[in-house]
Amino acid sequence: MNNEPIALEIDEEMSEMKKMNDELTETNAVLESAYLELVETLRLAVEAKDNYTRGHSDRVSAYSVLLGEKLGLSTRRLKTLRIGGIFHDVGKIGVPDSILLKENGLNDNEYAEIKKHTVVGADMLQPVSYFKNILPIIKYHHEKYDGTGYPEGLKGEKIPYLARIVAVADSFDAMTSRRSYRNSLTRKKVIKQFEIGRGTQFDPQIADVMLDIINNEPEKIKEIQNRFEN
Ligand SMILES: [Fe+2]
Repeated sequence: MNNEPIALEIDEEMSEMKKMNDELTETNAVLESAYLELVETLRLAVEAKDNYTRGHSDRVSAYSVLLGEKLGLSTRRLKTLRIGGIFHDVGKIGVPDSILLKENGLNDNEYAEIKKHTVVGADMLQPVSYFKNILPIIKYHHEKYDGTGYPEGLKGEKIPYLARIVAVADSFDAMTSRRSYRNSLTRKKVIKQFEIGRGTQFDPQIADVMLDIINNEPEKIKEIQNRFEN
């Protein structure tokens, strides 16, 4: 019996499949680079709005990943933390400059405007399926563990886990950055803030990991600060 035609057919099918596979790989690469371009465009837009935001967002991203590593998160969730950290304040694009750039003394209405950046940011990125996983970070990074945060006043474990991590990283960077109207907090005061805030403002377990890094691995914090100076 001659099996040659069958072998030939299999060969043809194999090469057809290989071609399809190559095309898929190429399409994926195109999508990935389109996605990265989108990320970069958004970064530029946020930066143009508020100079302070860039260094801040990059550091929050890096601190969040550091916390996530200590908490034993998967590579996939670490990636979500990294991107989510970069874009946590993307909704500030929608806040008027007159309010956003005001350094202190916000009235109630102005403060209410600032608070909207959480929901506005999540709404903005919602149509992009690639950003699906980071939406809870953007929307809930100002929630507090005791339920006194915004936008929804979620409490404890009801707050998405990655948003709780970014909340700790965000506060840590706010405390350790100098603003034109105040100096950064001393190390002692930062520690105090996390000790007081564990269980009220912050998830206690995550606050403890932050305290552990401050106390035992200050060089990791320094490295991030040097990498993303304002
Ligand atoms: Fe924010």
